[in-house]
Amino acid sequence: MERSVKYHYDPKWKRTHRCGELGGADTGRNVTIAGWVKKVREFGDLTFLDLWDRTGLIQLVVEASQPSLHRLFVSLRAEDVIACRGTVKKRPPEMVNLKMATGEVEIVVEEIEIFNRSEVPPFNVSDQIKASDDLRLRYRYLDLRRDKMQRNLELRHRLALETRNFLSRQGFLEIETPMLVKRTPEGARDYLVPSRLQPGKFYALPQSPQLYKQILMVAGFDRYFQLARCLRDEDLRADRQPEHTQIDIEMSFVTEEEVFAVTESLIKELFYGEADKGRRDPFPRIDYEQAMSRYGSDKPDLRFELEISDCSKLFAESGFEAFASAVRQGGVVRGISFPPGTAFSNNQIKKLEKQVKSAGAKGLATVKVDETGLSSPLDKFLGGDEMDRILSFFEAGTGNPSLLLLVAGSRESVEKSLGDLRLYLGRTYLLKGRNDEFKFLWVNRFPLFLPVEGGGWEPAHHIFSMPLEEDIPFLDQDPGRVRGHLYDLVCNGTELGSGSIRIHRRELQEKLFKIIGMDQAAAERKFGFLLRAFEFGGPPHGGIALGLDRLAMIIGGESSIRDYIAFPKTQSAASLMEEAPSEVEEEILRELHIRIEKEEG
Ligand code: AMO
Repeated sequence: MERSVKYHYDPKWKRTHRCGELGGADTGRNVTIAGWVKKVREFGDLTFLDLWDRTGLIQLVVEASQPSLHRLFVSLRAEDVIACRGTVKKRPPEMVNLKMATGEVEIVVEEIEIFNRSEVPPFNVSDQIKASDDLRLRYRYLDLRRDKMQRNLELRHRLALETRNFLSRQGFLEIETPMLVKRTPEGARDYLVPSRLQPGKFYALPQSPQLYKQILMVAGFDRYFQLARCLRDEDLRADRQPEHTQIDIEMSFVTEEEVFAVTESLIKELFYGEADKGRRDPFPRIDYEQAMSRYGSDKPDLRFELEISDCSKLFAESGFEAFASAVRQGGVVRGISFPPGTAFSNNQIKKLEKQVKSAGAKGLATVKVDETGLSSPLDKFLGGDEMDRILSFFEAGTGNPSLLLLVAGSRESVEKSLGDLRLYLGRTYLLKGRNDEFKFLWVNRFPLFLPVEGGGWEPAHHIFSMPLEEDIPFLDQDPGRVRGHLYDLVCNGTELGSGSIRIHRRELQEKLFKIIGMDQAAAERKFGFLLRAFEFGGPPHGGIALGLDRLAMIIGGESSIRDYIAFPKTQSAASLMEEAPSEVEEEILRELHIRIEKEEG
């Protein structure tokens, strides 16, 4: 070990200020600051250095007439971490940099301490980063040193803090629920943890605190919340990570209305803060059924209109056989009228056709009308005044140029393909430069059950949601018709949160378990603890969980939640920095009663 190297932090280098805090008012002050070197540049007799910490940048200056300081100064490289003592001086007017918060001043350095030199960084630590995502994740500590990532994590902190303050003011208690839980699948695969003390048994990591929060309602904590870590072994996307954080909320003795009211005030506080003061309108609401038929999505992006219209009736007797037969077979014909202003070339139309086909549609029929007239491959098949009726249905004509885009087929395939097309058209042609607008929407009355291929039913979301009163009679005859007090909060086409009013009586909960093929014994084995809790005074209750990572992504304006999570995982659920997951020693596996079977070949 080198004797001259100082390993301890000497308190004489205690900071008097942080880099971004200094300004004209500090002129003449002797200050001590610390941070990371960004740039060193020589300029005649003077050498300048930009020093960074999380609060900003400050310029340091050393004169060539101080040879030992100067030598040290010019030996510094980007990302070295140092402290410096010196005097704040106003910059000469021609050197003032208005782009920097501290651009009016500089520190004339008297002493420098180098805490640690940096290797040459694998990428330039700046917001104009060009490095690949993998490299950024491998060196996450450097990536996080960028201003943008610092702001992103500050935003996340603010959202968490304001959520805690807001909900506490409203009488909610934050209560932690366990991380080692009983395996009760909720849609995604569980992460499992082997038990050392009980050979052959496993805990699961929680996909959400759902059952615990319901049991807390039975326990009388009538307003609960938690910033809860949730773990799901599912396929990843830009808005999905294996670990995410929910603002998890549950309340007793409430209707849907009260859950909406609390959630809306919290969301308005987080998005608009002081500027809101209750002035904004309540969020619009739409039934799942309506959302699917009008927007082809259960999370419509309402920053643009582009509604889908059902024109099946027009085609029931049409000369265009492909559409007429779709309607005869119980399918639908629906279309979008794209507003004027964008001239579509044939190539662009082909692209749209490819798009709907990849979403499951058989094809795309188009009608183009503008001042020069009408062109449509449908024209030659249509008889009488059919085309006129189509144009007038969509309010299109030479006075109101439009591109009509029509798809026929089963309701599901038309909804999916036109929903995707609507999103593509809106985001490509109508949204440009409108990234700071938030369009919220409640989608409610989701179906409780979805048919399973080969027969039977599965829960559309989770199985603890209360059926609508008027649909309870269908539980026995036709579960597919049963809608629930189930709701999603959507913003700009992203699902921000999801919740429901829950079942609070054992017999109804058991009935729902039975519909999804879980007999009494299985229900007892998996959820007996919840059913038993209901028997001891389970109150009416309901709640919601909002994705904190997604909230940050939408407010912050990035397109991936990874930018708001300090240490996210890659697409294959790996952490590149510390290389997790990793193999473990035989001995540890033995202790956990686990043997790895190597796959053949
Ligand atoms: P749900 O599974 O819909 O509901 O999750 C609620 C919200 O959590 C966020 N979210 C995610 N965010 C990032 N990565 C993920 N993998 C991920 N999965 C979910 C979304 C979503 O809307 N227990 C119920 C809630 C309830 O009924 O109260 C639940 O977990 O923003």
